[in-house]
Amino acid sequence: MKPLTILATALAFAASANASSADDWAKRSIYQVITDRYARPVDSTDNCNITKYCGGTWSGLVNRLDYIQEMGFTAVQISPIQENLPEDTIYGEAFHGYWPQNLYELNAHFGTANDLNHLVSELHKRDMYLMVDVVANEFAYSVGGTNMTAANSTLIDYSVFVPFNQSSDFTPYCPIVDWSNQTEYTNCWLGYQGVATPRIKTTEPTIAATLNQWIADLVSTYNIDGIRIDGAKQIEPNFFPNFTNSAGVYAMGEVYDGDAEFLCGYQNLTSGLENYALYGKIIDAFTAGKMTDLVSMVGAMRQACQSPQYLANFIENQDNPRFATLTQDIALAKNALAFTILSDGIPKMYYGQEQHLPGNYSPYNRQALWPTQYNKSTDLYNLTATLNKLRNHAISINDHYVTNWSSILYTDGSTYATRKGPNGAQIVAVLSNQGLQGGDYTLQIPGVADPGMNLTEVTLCNSTVVAGENGTITVPMGRGQPRVYYPTFNLNGSGLCGFSSSSSFSPSSKGSSGSSNTTSSGTPAASSSLPQGAGPTVKTSAWLGLSILILSGLFML
Ligand SMILES: *[C@@H]1O[C@H](CO)[C@@H](O)[C@H](O)[C@H]1NC(C)=O
Ligand SMILES: *[C@@H]1O[C@H](CO)[C@@H](O)[C@H](O)[C@H]1NC(C)=O
Ligand SMILES: *[C@@H]1O[C@H](CO)[C@@H](O)[C@H](O)[C@H]1NC(C)=O
Ligand SMILES: *[C@@H]1O[C@H](CO)[C@@H](O)[C@H](O)[C@H]1NC(C)=O
Ligand SMILES: *[C@@H]1O[C@H](CO)[C@@H](O)[C@H](O)[C@H]1NC(C)=O
Ligand SMILES: *[C@@H]1O[C@H](CO)[C@@H](O)[C@H](O)[C@H]1NC(C)=O
Ligand SMILES: *[C@@H]1O[C@H](CO)[C@@H](O)[C@H](O)[C@H]1NC(C)=O
Ligand SMILES: *[C@@H]1O[C@H](CO)[C@@H](O)[C@H](O)[C@H]1NC(C)=O
Ligand SMILES: *[C@@H]1O[C@H](CO)[C@@H](O)[C@H](O)[C@H]1NC(C)=O
Ligand SMILES: *[C@@H]1O[C@H](CO)[C@@H](O)[C@H](O)[C@H]1NC(C)=O
Ligand SMILES: *[C@@H]1O[C@H](CO)[C@@H](O)[C@H](O)[C@H]1NC(C)=O
Ligand SMILES: *[C@@H]1O[C@H](CO)[C@@H](O)[C@H](O)[C@H]1NC(C)=O
Repeated sequence: MKPLTILATALAFAASANASSADDWAKRSIYQVITDRYARPVDSTDNCNITKYCGGTWSGLVNRLDYIQEMGFTAVQISPIQENLPEDTIYGEAFHGYWPQNLYELNAHFGTANDLNHLVSELHKRDMYLMVDVVANEFAYSVGGTNMTAANSTLIDYSVFVPFNQSSDFTPYCPIVDWSNQTEYTNCWLGYQGVATPRIKTTEPTIAATLNQWIADLVSTYNIDGIRIDGAKQIEPNFFPNFTNSAGVYAMGEVYDGDAEFLCGYQNLTSGLENYALYGKIIDAFTAGKMTDLVSMVGAMRQACQSPQYLANFIENQDNPRFATLTQDIALAKNALAFTILSDGIPKMYYGQEQHLPGNYSPYNRQALWPTQYNKSTDLYNLTATLNKLRNHAISINDHYVTNWSSILYTDGSTYATRKGPNGAQIVAVLSNQGLQGGDYTLQIPGVADPGMNLTEVTLCNSTVVAGENGTITVPMGRGQPRVYYPTFNLNGSGLCGFSSSSSFSPSSKGSSGSSNTTSSGTPAASSSLPQGAGPTVKTSAWLGLSILILSGLFML
């Protein structure tokens, strides 16, 4: 071994100790909250002004963890935790956390360091992970109604920022206008008015080193299991290897871009990504009838991405319209939700989605959850619980589930029938975009299982079917509802349809624990040209990438 290789290997081992890798996260399912809007520490029905802090805290979240865990989630993402600008700006207050001013202080509105530690220990007691959203590339400053283009950065008192407190620590003001010009969107600032977001000069080695130390300390101080990197597309690629390795945990970058090749290219930098390429296609498939575009994009992502299992699938978040605003049809919401939980990747749900909350844009897509009284009887709550539990169960039977790529068994203009998981642990989903108006009919779906295997439909729990010749089952469709099947003999421990619930479910355990055969069957539907099994951990691959960069002296992504 060359000295540098030895060094890189040693570093990879050091960084791995106790840290949660991408492979650990691939088995998880994430519930995203805006801390201020999820739960108050003491229940109250006081009104809340949607542009201001509404009183949600980390201890409020602790009191409402059952609601999340009973839906089958195994990780929680919280909004940014740093001290933010204090003013009531023309867009309201910084309740969402995306306007940092001091990296070293917590946002006191959400609680104390003890409260945050308590949240982490309560999550870990439940074998749940914490992901913290971080803003690493910019600070924020209230500039009132002035147009930045006219007044530029002379409006900003840089001394309020910690630790970068001089104008020379930031790029000169220029607005991001051209989102196809990488120089521009990685150097310029977001926005014109109200809140200026000075862009930290992350290209300066001393500044980058300070940020790397900051994220390392933050992760270790609070025992954080994963980070989300806000605005990752606006940061130059060179920044990521050292930053994510300093964090030492799984990092999920926000690369807001629908192009599969472009998006997947970032997997070399942050193994995790929000799946913005699928996002738009899922929405179009289930609100605008464009099922074939979704099928094409699933194929394109499979080609473009090294590791689709590290990408997060979602249909709602703090930056996009709530699904209920796009269509009121609950059957469509159920199918789109089922897609995000059952396809390749990490399911990620935005708080309130299970309550069918509306809201077209910020801050209306960031309403408080407490008026719903955390109702666990809604259709979407129940379906989320069912499908998360089923996925968790499939992974506990055979953790190759996450890398056994889904295959499309059947598709037409309104149907997406898919199978994911090794034989005996496969989940078969038959999704529809017909909505509640959809009629009653049957579909013949081939390749779901070995002929003779019994499968139970888990959303209604009132039917078991036997796979016939070619592994075909007959699926009764109706009122646009999704149907989801799982091998009956392996439902013990799932807690579904009257089957026992496993007392020892642990998505973090290594290796498969089930009694079933773990190899993929020979059915054509389950075959895949892509390798199965666990890939390298993010840290190893990132360090190898880094050492390759060091060896070749290339720093010019
Ligand atoms: C919310 O606060 C803003 C800013 O103070 C104020 O203009 C607005 O009227 C308030 N809205 C409600 C519904 O009270
Ligand atoms: C600010 O000024 C620039 C340049 O004059 C102009 O293009 C832009 O529309 C203005 N923005 C707002 C929000 O007024
Ligand atoms: C910024 O504004 C100040 C005062 O209006 C002006 O003197 C200065 O030249 C401007 N700088 C740039 C880079 O536009
Ligand atoms: C800027 O921060 C440094 C420490 O990082 C501190 O010594 C200095 O006083 C600060 N300057 C201002 C103007 O706040
Ligand atoms: C890209 O943006 C930079 C900075 O705004 C600018 O100098 C450059 O001319 C732009 N390039 C193109 C091709 O537009
Ligand atoms: C990353 O860290 C290495 C080792 O400390 C350093 O040599 C390199 O310059 C850093 N790269 C960047 C882009 O900051
Ligand atoms: C990412 O890494 C792979 C090999 O690890 C390489 O083939 C690919 O070109 C890289 N992509 C980008 C965008 O750097
Ligand atoms: C969904 O609701 C049904 C009917 O109330 C109930 O029997 C079932 O246990 C619920 N499923 C889950 C996973 O909570
Ligand atoms: C499937 O279920 C039927 C009755 O529902 C049963 O007779 C048969 O033995 C089951 N097949 C297997 C392979 O378990
Ligand atoms: C299952 O329940 C649904 C909804 O109640 C009903 O439409 C369907 O006929 C039932 N299926 C069977 C096989 O009983
Ligand atoms: C099974 O597949 C073969 C080959 O594709 C086909 O000829 C046959 O009709 C299929 N049988 C059924 C019951 O679908
Ligand atoms: C299951 O595994 C056993 C032992 O490894 C093997 O004999 C059997 O053929 C396998 N069955 C299937 C359906 O793969």
